[in-house]
Amino acid sequence: MEKLRGHCVVVTGGASGIGEATARAIVAEGGSVVIADLQDERGGALVAELGERALFHHTDVTQEADIIAAIDLAQKHFGPLTGMVNNAGIVGAIGSIMDTDVEAFDHTMAILSRAVFLGIKHAARAMRPQGRGSIVSLASTAGVVGGQGPHVYTMAKHGVVGITKSAACELSRLGIRVNAVAPGGTVTPMTDALGDNNPESTAQFIAQSSPLGIACMPDDIARGILFLLSDDTRYMTGHTLVIDAGLTTGAEPPPFFSQEADLLLHAGQRGSDSVKAASS
Ligand SMILES: NC(=O)c1ccc[n+]([C@@H]2O[C@H](COP(=O)([O-])OP(=O)(O)OC[C@H]3O[C@@H](n4cnc5c(N)ncnc54)[C@H](O)[C@@H]3O)[C@@H](O)[C@H]2O)c1
Repeated sequence: MEKLRGHCVVVTGGASGIGEATARAIVAEGGSVVIADLQDERGGALVAELGERALFHHTDVTQEADIIAAIDLAQKHFGPLTGMVNNAGIVGAIGSIMDTDVEAFDHTMAILSRAVFLGIKHAARAMRPQGRGSIVSLASTAGVVGGQGPHVYTMAKHGVVGITKSAACELSRLGIRVNAVAPGGTVTPMTDALGDNNPESTAQFIAQSSPLGIACMPDDIARGILFLLSDDTRYMTGHTLVIDAGLTTGAEPPPFFSQEADLLLHAGQRGSDSVKAASS
């Protein structure tokens, strides 16, 4: 059964990487999609391939009017908005916090944080009359722990997790669910530089740092986004779904799963034996 039959979804940053995989998955599951991105050529080619249930809208997510226009286009062609994916992103400001200038900070926050706020705001306004809808925003493992990304990126992605909880509190009463997905390193154009712009090398690099030893591909994340868009998660809101091969649970296997386990085998028991001995 197609999970998104009759759904109408806007995907920001849908021309590339995780957004592209999500747009493909939405159409494959029977839904319609508006790809809202800066990349006209790439977005145009993708909608030509996806057919009549896909449209492209040139969108700069830092511009509130562009986000409104993308949602309007989706509703005009495909009916009431049922899904919004706030996915557009960049790495943004990098380097020491002591050298990060405020212009780079503002630009990064405008795309990774302010745009998510705007996407939730206008999707909620469009969904309110129907009393249903699902909004999914892209956080990151950098939005859950420190040390997984540059400073401003980390701050913005923690903000995505925060607004997801906060908006979910208000919008649940309107039947609108708000969730986030937090990927670990994923093979997309954004991470190309890790493998000298060669996707195979990037995949190898990411696989080496993955607890599961395999590279995360855009489809791995798109499946999580689809899950949250669909009625399979009708009882989930305010949640951040971490998809990171367990990285943020602790990257190294702890001693109780390794050879040192023997050292711990009787530790608790010895303790309780000595307590028993002392009390008898
Ligand atoms: N790739 C990863 O390792 C990874 C990990 C965690 C989270 N993420 C997040 O996933 C999301 C998608 O990233 P990706 O890896 O697919 O990257 P990507 O570079 O493949 O795609 C990002 C898309 O966003 C678009 N975009 C950038 N600025 C825009 C703007 N101002 N207006 C409209 N569109 C804009 C780009 O044109 C591009 O198509 C981002 O939010 C990113 O932070 C990625």
